[in-house]
Amino acid sequence: MVAVAILAAGRGTRMKSDLPKVLHRLGGRSLIEWVLSSVKPLEPVRRLVIVGYRAELVTEALTTPQMTDPILPPLEFVQQQEQLGTGHAVQQLLPHLQDFDGDLLVLNGDVPLLRPETLELLLKTHQENNSLATILTAHLPNPKGYGRVFCNGQNILQQIVEDRDCSPAQKQNRRINAGVYCFRWSSLADVLPKVTADNDQQEYYLTDAVNYLDPVTVFDVDDYQEILGINDRKQLADAYGILQTRLKDDWMRKGVTLIDPDSTTIDDTVQLEPDVIVEPQTHLRGKTVISSGSRVGPGSLIENSQIGRNVTVLYSVVSNSTIADDTQVGPYSHLRGQVQVGHKCRIGNFVELKNTKLGDRTNVAHLSYLGDTTAGNHVNIGAGTITANYDGVKKHPTTIGDRTKTGSNSVLVAPISLGEAVTVAAGSTITESVPDDCLVIARSRQVVKPGWRLTSTNSEPQPS
Ligand code: UD1
Ligand code: CA
Repeated sequence: MVAVAILAAGRGTRMKSDLPKVLHRLGGRSLIEWVLSSVKPLEPVRRLVIVGYRAELVTEALTTPQMTDPILPPLEFVQQQEQLGTGHAVQQLLPHLQDFDGDLLVLNGDVPLLRPETLELLLKTHQENNSLATILTAHLPNPKGYGRVFCNGQNILQQIVEDRDCSPAQKQNRRINAGVYCFRWSSLADVLPKVTADNDQQEYYLTDAVNYLDPVTVFDVDDYQEILGINDRKQLADAYGILQTRLKDDWMRKGVTLIDPDSTTIDDTVQLEPDVIVEPQTHLRGKTVISSGSRVGPGSLIENSQIGRNVTVLYSVVSNSTIADDTQVGPYSHLRGQVQVGHKCRIGNFVELKNTKLGDRTNVAHLSYLGDTTAGNHVNIGAGTITANYDGVKKHPTTIGDRTKTGSNSVLVAPISLGEAVTVAAGSTITESVPDDCLVIARSRQVVKPGWRLTSTNSEPQPS
């Protein structure tokens, strides 16, 4: 039986931000969401988050409906009013875990790259060795800032010394404390009250509690990148790079072509099928799903959108929208606000669609804006057609029936409805609805004056 506690009360001074450090975003999630997702496969029986600095923000961010996971026990928020150190933070758990009899996994909220498998191995090692505590360590090329771990040959801990309390000789040790610990809770509860703030920072160190326990097993992580902590913006960017490399390598293994991985970013929340091709300078965000055979980019941003099979999206921005199979989008299209595009459509150059639904085989090929519009199948929206959907106060809908064609430079003043197989003459401004099977012309008639020539008498005022 394992409970999990995440330390998230610190401000994260080195981030130079009003936002609590654990709410800074890394890819599609906040740092603490990453930590929460890494512990999920352990099926913890309790999940406690220690909050302090701007606690209400952290609590609110983690209790939205999207964050609530029915399979897991609800998050319990434990207040640490003053942030007097990691040991002090864990001391706050004492009244909450009085009746708990099991193992407690403690993680720092600023260590987002941990793999669940690593935590599973840590827990297994802890339980097999029947240790009072097992701590995760790594050998870092640059261990500066981390607590150093000293142990005997059998991976039994002798001591953890914080970087600032290390002697020059101790600083040479590159084996560091990852800030991830598995404790037998009853043993930790016994030693927590003994921790004092007798050190260079005058803080209560959790590492002191570890030093009081014996025996403590030390468990080394294979890939040291997993345990990198985020303390400043540089480390946040570095972590993003590591995460991106991981995700992109994984998608390539699963059959996705990334033409230029270095210029592409993919949120971890994105789903791709085999034989998707991602061209350079393309960014896939949020809950985007792209099906097999589709080619996105170059130069595209797709967020929270579903893209069907064999779709192309070229130099375009697609957000919160759905595109069905065999449709072509771009170059330079912008789809936003719940657009739904049917099969075999063509959305072309300099076209903006907002909250609009198009049927199958419908084209909006050039220089148009359709907002709050529902168009049927086989519709052809001529170049430069605009729906005037906003009267300055409210947005109004436009409906366009199957097989209707609008001529170039038409304006459809909403609310308006065009029936099926309507033809709108080029340059028309349509203000009233049109029934099925009509030609509609709404522009002034052309006037031709034969023999008329520009002369000084009709072009410039004569001197008086
Ligand atoms: C800590 C460890 C260090 C380890 C490193 C790994 C201690 C004393 N040191 O140092 O050995 O190498 O992590 O990343 O534990 N927090 C609270 N309340 C507090 C103080 C901190 O909740 O009063 C939280 C922070 O929000 C953060 C985490 O604890 O998520 C770690 O705190 P931080 O100050 O970053 O510890 P480090 O100095 O990195
Ligand atoms: Ca840290």
